[in-house]
Amino acid sequence: MKKGKFITIDGVEGAGKSTQISFIGDYLQAKGINLILTREPGGTDLGEKIRQLLLSTNTQAMQGNSELLLMFAARNEHIHQKIIPALERGDWVLSDRFTDASYAYQGGGRQLDIERIEQLEQWVLQGFVPDMTLLLDVPVKQGMLRVESRGSKDRIELEAVDFFERVRQAYIARAEKYPQRIKLIDSSKTKAHTSAQIAQMLANL
Ligand SMILES: Nc1ncnc2c1ncn2[C@@H]1O[C@H](COP(=O)(O)OP(=O)(O)OP(=O)(O)O)[C@@H](O)[C@H]1O
Ligand SMILES: [Mg+2]
Repeated sequence: MKKGKFITIDGVEGAGKSTQISFIGDYLQAKGINLILTREPGGTDLGEKIRQLLLSTNTQAMQGNSELLLMFAARNEHIHQKIIPALERGDWVLSDRFTDASYAYQGGGRQLDIERIEQLEQWVLQGFVPDMTLLLDVPVKQGMLRVESRGSKDRIELEAVDFFERVRQAYIARAEKYPQRIKLIDSSKTKAHTSAQIAQMLANL
């Protein structure tokens, strides 16, 4: 039986996910909650190996469907090996990206058939959804500027601006489709402005 809460944070590159994860960690720890931090793709030994395959720029061009399948293979490990056991122990889990990212990147960005993604979600997740998803929204170019100084880009970060525009729009469409679960948060202003909105959402969880 699930006792803890499962929160995911999503958004385009440079939206401020990592920044706000540390805020959320402090916020929940102050309330005495034991929080497990994790990420996708990754989160388990095998998942992190799959992440390396997905993000490496040394690999040959990868089929979109292979990318999608690898994401869900990593996610299958993630939920069964890490997320569900933690929630059953009563811990809370915060994941840097989750299933919504497959709809945004492989659906919106790569323009793969959404029905395929829905079928995979049905098969792998079987109705398992986050209790709350924080979607940090920022204009694509603004997000890119924030991470510009970070150095070398991974395979997905090398995509062009219009790819990320589609990713952003697909995220927003997800938030409109699932307004109860996905909280659309303006992350274009200060870090404190974003954190304040998140704190309000967490207070109601
Ligand atoms: N609201 C903000 N205003 C200005 N700068 C910000 C804001 N939020 C985050 N930053 C800065 O932007 C950079 C990117 O933020 P962060 O690493 O949290 O984004 P991210 O969503 O985790 O990115 P990625 O998708 O690459 O993991 C960092 O240098 C961070 O300090
Ligand atoms: Mg990050």
